[in-house]
Amino acid sequence: MEKIVAANLKMNFTYDEVKEYVEKLDGSKNFIVCPPNIYLHMFVNKNYSCGSQDAYYEDKGAFTGEVSSLQLKSLGVNYTILGHSERRQLFGDTNCTVNKKVISALKNNLNVILCIGETKEERDNNETKDVLKEQIENCLKNVSNVEKIIIAYEPIWSIGTGVIPTNDEIKETIDYIKDIFNSLYNNHDVKVLYGGSVNEKNIDSINSIENVSGVLVGGASLDIDKINKIKGVVLK
Ligand code: 13P
Repeated sequence: MEKIVAANLKMNFTYDEVKEYVEKLDGSKNFIVCPPNIYLHMFVNKNYSCGSQDAYYEDKGAFTGEVSSLQLKSLGVNYTILGHSERRQLFGDTNCTVNKKVISALKNNLNVILCIGETKEERDNNETKDVLKEQIENCLKNVSNVEKIIIAYEPIWSIGTGVIPTNDEIKETIDYIKDIFNSLYNNHDVKVLYGGSVNEKNIDSINSIENVSGVLVGGASLDIDKINKIKGVVLK
């Protein structure tokens, strides 16, 4: 299985900083960089892949501030993150809007990194599996072809906190996600990335989990040395 490293740069870097970052970046097609929309043009058509952090579901029209999958594809972007917990918690994305975005992204031939994950409260209440199942079923409603879908399992309580599940917990949850795909999509073996406080120190351990298809990295991806170390471990 070819593994993946995806870098979610979130809303970081000034123009001067991003220019310096791009100059130092090198890659492989299984390295996906997801910069802020205003910098996407600097990351396309390189020896790595380029993704957006979101994509609106209408192709065009009076939707001030939004960017569509059609527009992203026309720029040379080939991936989009959808359903990130920050979009859900801060910008009102729901499983229903994420579903529309997934359908539009696939229609426009983008690969989708679909983020799912439970809150601390849901985890404490033993609701993790129910939440993940609901997210998968509702975000992929009426989606029949999942070849271009990658799942990123990001426990919300682990994002930016330095706290991560144990390897056994990650393995069990990813097995569960794969089981859901197997039953919904005729034994389709979906790729599942782990995301949440991945860094250059814990990457050896996370990468050793047998069913992890790669990682989605936030904070550590802002530092070239750290993301290079992570790529070196996962994409070797
Ligand atoms: P951190 O790696 O900073 O915890 O962020 C994870 C994330 O949200 C990636 O999408």
